[in-house]
Amino acid sequence: MTELGPVAWPPAPIRTQRLLLREPEARDRATFIRLLASPEVHTYLGGPRPRDELEREMPGVPARWPGSFVVDLDGAMIGQILLRRATEHRRPAVAGKVDLGYLFLPRAWGHGYAAEACAAALDWFDGVLPGEPVVLTTQTANVRSMRLAAKLGFTEIERFQAWDAEQWLGLRSPIPPSD
Ligand SMILES: CC(C)(COP(=O)(O)OP(=O)(O)OC[C@H]1O[C@@H](n2cnc3c(N)ncnc32)[C@H](O)[C@@H]1OP(=O)(O)O)[C@@H](O)C(=O)NCCC(=O)NCCS
Repeated sequence: MTELGPVAWPPAPIRTQRLLLREPEARDRATFIRLLASPEVHTYLGGPRPRDELEREMPGVPARWPGSFVVDLDGAMIGQILLRRATEHRRPAVAGKVDLGYLFLPRAWGHGYAAEACAAALDWFDGVLPGEPVVLTTQTANVRSMRLAAKLGFTEIERFQAWDAEQWLGLRSPIPPSD
């Protein structure tokens, strides 16, 4: 995965009904570590990273690159949204396309926050790179993620076996750019 490409970054913080999408800041570091060290968050993502390794290696301001949004609820980070370009991928349909990822703290699940935040990030994306499709890979066993992908308008391209699990590859077709 690489960065999105030539987009103006960071955008002005994006407000939704309940949330704020913004660039990561130094004060988010502890939450990034919690998110990446959480076994629950990584149940379907190949397992968490060791906390001591994250403490050592995480930059002072984590994950600061175009397409990396912190999702903020009432002034505190609850999750991250990632829009990255898949440079190489084991599935030809994905190579070169922009990929959506999402990670939320378990206490923030079940409130519709991920759906609200991802919809806003995709709106932003449609504005900066109009006409570009977005792909998403998730394990079929990840029921919450599968439901979210469907809600966001992703439809199945294929299923494949990788990382010892069945994977679902979805595509969100580009909305034709308006002039
Ligand atoms: C995938 C993930 C983001 C989904 O989170 P989520 O909270 O289930 O997703 P949504 O934002 O769509 O919320 C839907 C839930 O909120 C509920 N909800 C409550 N209030 C709501 C509201 N105001 N609006 C919408 N939904 C609401 C819905 O009923 C639904 O609950 P249910 O699943 O118990 O029926 C989360 O489980 C996660 O971070 N997982 C770990 C990381 C991961 O696996 N990522 C995928 C790979 S990229």
